[in-house]
Amino acid sequence: NYPARVRIVEVGPRDGLQNEKLPVATTTKLALIERLADAGLGVIEATAFVSPKWVPQMADAAEVMAGLPQRAGIAYPVLAPNLKGFEAALAAGAKEVAIFTAASETFCQKNTNCSIDESFVRFAPIMAAARDAGVAVRGYVSCVLGCPYEGAIAPQAVLDATQRLLQIGCYEVSLGDTIGVGTPGSTARLFERLCASVPAAQLAGHFHDTWGQALPNILTALDFGVATFDNSVAGLGGCPYSPGATGNVATEDVVYMLDGLGIVTGVSLERLVDAAAFISAALGRAPASRVARAWLAR
Ligand code: HMG
Ligand code: MG
Repeated sequence: NYPARVRIVEVGPRDGLQNEKLPVATTTKLALIERLADAGLGVIEATAFVSPKWVPQMADAAEVMAGLPQRAGIAYPVLAPNLKGFEAALAAGAKEVAIFTAASETFCQKNTNCSIDESFVRFAPIMAAARDAGVAVRGYVSCVLGCPYEGAIAPQAVLDATQRLLQIGCYEVSLGDTIGVGTPGSTARLFERLCASVPAAQLAGHFHDTWGQALPNILTALDFGVATFDNSVAGLGGCPYSPGATGNVATEDVVYMLDGLGIVTGVSLERLVDAAAFISAALGRAPASRVARAWLAR
């Protein structure tokens, strides 16, 4: 009873690159996005309009927006933590933004310098401005399966944040296992709680692969009817305010698994591996994903 089709949200250019220590040229980011578009990805999170003091790697957000390949059918959501970020995103041509909060108070403070309640105070004017501008808003909840500062997180805290994001008008909430500690057991317990109150169609899975559990966790979420997953080409990434977090689950690992299950994604594995090889070479390392390495070694 898995969904017949899965919507892949490629977050490599944002979540993947935000944590790189050395600067990545805007032209390299755009060349990556071009390859991701060529691979058939329909949603590519392009950048983040956050404070460059907090995340220097995203300081070129407006330049990235100006150079995006303009192709029919591709959405380029961007992160906006506050009204300042939203206005900058709008001015740069964004048609969709993502706001982000957490299920952990401490993480929310470390990541955005505010409490969970205060994050919703910031979101109110963003939602009003987005409605006026016809901009779609996605919500993120971080630390849904554990927090680097607080440890275990109660599913109820995740449900609360999720429902608040939906109530203020987010069309979907992406559930971040920010530090990749979840297992199919904790993932099932979380989705049991969430899916009792929220339609699976309004939920997305955002799994980091730190502890190697992302694919089984995705399979677990699929079983609950979740059909949108955030992934990062070549397994790039980590969160700068989440010590020890490694990359998001690699898009090519997810696509290979979904291909094998007969679940349609519209993504070409061959072209995706090409994108993974490109960005890994540009960063001076081998692709982190098993599928890219296996493909390239054939
Ligand atoms: P703050 O320091 O409290 O903000 O940071 P402030 O309003 O006091 O402003 C301080 C300075 O930042 C000012 O500049 C503002 O103009 C500027 P100054 O006067 O000192 O020169 N500023 C901005 N500049 C550009 N764009 C903006 C912006 N806002 C203020 N939007 C703030 C609060 C939210 C801004 C900061 O904490 C921040 O930018 N945090 C973002 C951190 C981040 O990007 N984390 C990674 C993304 S979330 C993630 O990865 C998790 C996710 O993947 C899901 C998962 O895996 O869990 C989504
Ligand atoms: Mg993330």
